[in-house]
Amino acid sequence: MTENRQIVLKSRPVGLPTPENFALETAPMPVAGEGEMLVRTLWMSVDPYIRGRISDRKSYAPPFQIGEPLDGYFVGRVEESKGGRFPAGTHVFGTGGGWRDYHAADGKALRAVDPDIAPLQANIGVLGMPGQTAYVGLLDIGRPKEGETVFVSAASGAVGAVVCQIAKLKGCRVVGSAGSDEKCAWLSDEAGVDAAINYRTCGDLEAALAAACPDGIDVYFENVGGEHLQAALSQMNFFGRIVACGMIAGYNDSAPRPGPNNLFLVVGRRIRMQGFIVSDHRERTDDFLSDVGGWIRDGRLRWRETVVEGLERAPDAFIGLFHGDNFGKMCVKVAE
Ligand SMILES: NC(=O)c1ccc[n+]([C@@H]2O[C@H](COP(=O)([O-])OP(=O)(O)OC[C@H]3O[C@@H](n4cnc5c(N)ncnc54)[C@H](OP(=O)(O)O)[C@@H]3O)[C@@H](O)[C@H]2O)c1
Repeated sequence: MTENRQIVLKSRPVGLPTPENFALETAPMPVAGEGEMLVRTLWMSVDPYIRGRISDRKSYAPPFQIGEPLDGYFVGRVEESKGGRFPAGTHVFGTGGGWRDYHAADGKALRAVDPDIAPLQANIGVLGMPGQTAYVGLLDIGRPKEGETVFVSAASGAVGAVVCQIAKLKGCRVVGSAGSDEKCAWLSDEAGVDAAINYRTCGDLEAALAAACPDGIDVYFENVGGEHLQAALSQMNFFGRIVACGMIAGYNDSAPRPGPNNLFLVVGRRIRMQGFIVSDHRERTDDFLSDVGGWIRDGRLRWRETVVEGLERAPDAFIGLFHGDNFGKMCVKVAE
């Protein structure tokens, strides 16, 4: 092979991204130098945070430039090693090889993955960045106590589904919201939540939440924002915690949306609302892998995934996140 396929940013989206914002291009095949490896991307992740990086807004991660290849989390296989960190044949996880077929790297920023614990693509989901987000967000920021009520939005997604199940493992009452009856049924039947709300069909979300949380909400794991935040605030208990993980409902807004009109509740009810970014919590990676790996081995943690086949379809998979096309982790299969 002499050419390397990659997806580049063609233009910056205004509102919802479209396929025209991306292009499939080819570049010369990378060559592993001394101390490097040639890595074949097998699976790549599309994640909501990429929406921020294809804008030129100032954020915690620098924007991608127009004409440049995108990047993100991937699972790959070392095809050739010239003294890189891992020998040929090793499966690896990290960034630097997303949205492209091959890349060369020394491997210092990658970690080897064990295909025997879970299928390879689980390393971009439940055993990867989304799983760690759920783990540190719920346990370190939300700090739920046994018997408390935890409400999770985008509950059947990559992060949300793990939050729901860890909260159940910690003895909490768990309520999740999701955008279809099928997702809600999975949350109740497979993930074990106590109540699931289809926010698209429930009518008044605040009333539905009040009915599902008769003892109020102690921890709100916020993935969505907008109407969800307003509804959750109305049901928060005194000294409740809001884990501000993401607010996907607003990622495609061209102008700032109004805040919740009941935000003052945080004062009277002494609510703590804290944002976090998972990459600030790398010191928890070993704990995360040990706990979540153990729960997977014991059959106590389940997950769903939606697989989109082919690197060329990565933009469609990414755009689908904003329509709820994914049921669980959205994964792009690039190669066998
Ligand atoms: N802070 C961090 O370090 C960090 C790290 C990773 C992810 N995050 C955030 O965590 C959240 C979940 O990410 P994820 O990777 O697990 O994605 P995901 O939940 O697997 O996929 C996104 C889901 O969001 C829901 N959604 C999309 N637009 C919506 C809208 N307008 N209103 C309500 N729901 C909407 C859809 O599910 P439905 O069918 O249920 O609508 C969609 O499937 C995102 O906000 C993301 O930015 C934060």
